Amino acid sequence: MPHSPFDTPLHPDTIAVHSGRGDLQDLGVHALPIDLSTTNPLPDIERGGDSYEAMATGGRPIADGSLVYQRLWNPTVARFEDALAEMEHAEAAVAFSSGMAAMTAVILAMTAATGKHHVVAVRPLYGGTDHLLGSGLLGTEVTFCHASEVGVSIRPDTGLVVMETPANPTLDLVDIAAVVAGAGDVPVVVDNTFATPILQNPLDHGTAMSLHSATKYLGGHGDVIAGVVACSEEIAEALRRVRAVTGGLLHPLGAYLLHRGLTTLPVRIRQQQENAQQVVQWLIDRPEVDEVFFPGLDGDPQGILERQMRGTGAMIAMRMRGGYAAASRVASAVNLFTHAVSLGGVDSLIQHPAALTHRPVPADARPDAAVLRLSIGLENAGDLIADLARAFAVVGSLQETESQRI
Ligand SMILES: Cc1ncc(COP(=O)(O)O)c(C=O)c1O
Repeated sequence: MPHSPFDTPLHPDTIAVHSGRGDLQDLGVHALPIDLSTTNPLPDIERGGDSYEAMATGGRPIADGSLVYQRLWNPTVARFEDALAEMEHAEAAVAFSSGMAAMTAVILAMTAATGKHHVVAVRPLYGGTDHLLGSGLLGTEVTFCHASEVGVSIRPDTGLVVMETPANPTLDLVDIAAVVAGAGDVPVVVDNTFATPILQNPLDHGTAMSLHSATKYLGGHGDVIAGVVACSEEIAEALRRVRAVTGGLLHPLGAYLLHRGLTTLPVRIRQQQENAQQVVQWLIDRPEVDEVFFPGLDGDPQGILERQMRGTGAMIAMRMRGGYAAASRVASAVNLFTHAVSLGGVDSLIQHPAALTHRPVPADARPDAAVLRLSIGLENAGDLIADLARAFAVVGSLQETESQRI
């Protein structure tokens, strides 16, 4: 943790650059080291065994012990975790090999490990999360509900409440504090992937956990798959235990890239968000678009944006006037945007949620087939708008040709 040399707390921009680097001075290095050892020498059998026991049960390494084995502990991963924890105003963080591995560990730690097998899930959620819960693969029983129904959905055997805000792909804002109030004593996990710690800190609104698909904004360059959960030290122990046993750990090279990525996260978010706002302003006047989904576009009637976020983020969804046919043509006609799943990187992506990211979601909860999702990157906003304008023109001319044929 960087200690402020001043009386005032450090600004999040400063924390993003300096956090998780507390041991570098003693190591005599300036850039983050990458520790690739899969195994570590043991001082003697007794201390080796004690170290193993401490970490396999979710604890931290013991003094004068050994890190034993990479599945239990890795210094490069631990530095990234410390940095993310500080940015999320949390005591601790635990990193995983993907966002879904992180969600799996959260579900197992809060249900199978506690004997409470019921989960309340607030829709909409990322399709993979919806599928994981709905499939019952982890032995859970799930009640999907609206945010206002969390209180009545809680049962004595409820171990976890899952929610996402802004939600994927419709950018719905969900009132975190209201869900926490409805959940009572049941721990709430917020998927904070879209907002990042720069725009939203769920723990400040009473949640037990903030989860990220670190694959997205935290990495920011589309070259790492990872997940991370910020939480209390007590919950971190439960999550590290699941990670040690099930093996969903993050590779140190990925952790290094993520930690480096955190340093530019505030600037990337600010610029990507500004670009997104320009694209939204252009989209709302376009006849090809039926509706644009973007936080605050409806005027924030419940004040959720104002209360829990520090910005809109850079994700946009739009419903095309020509239905699925128009959506599919736009996705294929863009040039600067890449037609691809994922989000949050420096380059802009476009994808069709109903066919891809939300394909496993039951039909009645799946996004509209006319909806496309845009992840806005760091390109010039004017160039991105010109690309969409060209794609819309192609679709318009195709529609004209078809109606002439009819
Ligand atoms: C909001 C959200 N949560 C979780 C995930 C899953 O993360 P990963 O792909 O890193 O497993 C995704 C992936 O797209 C996502 O968009």
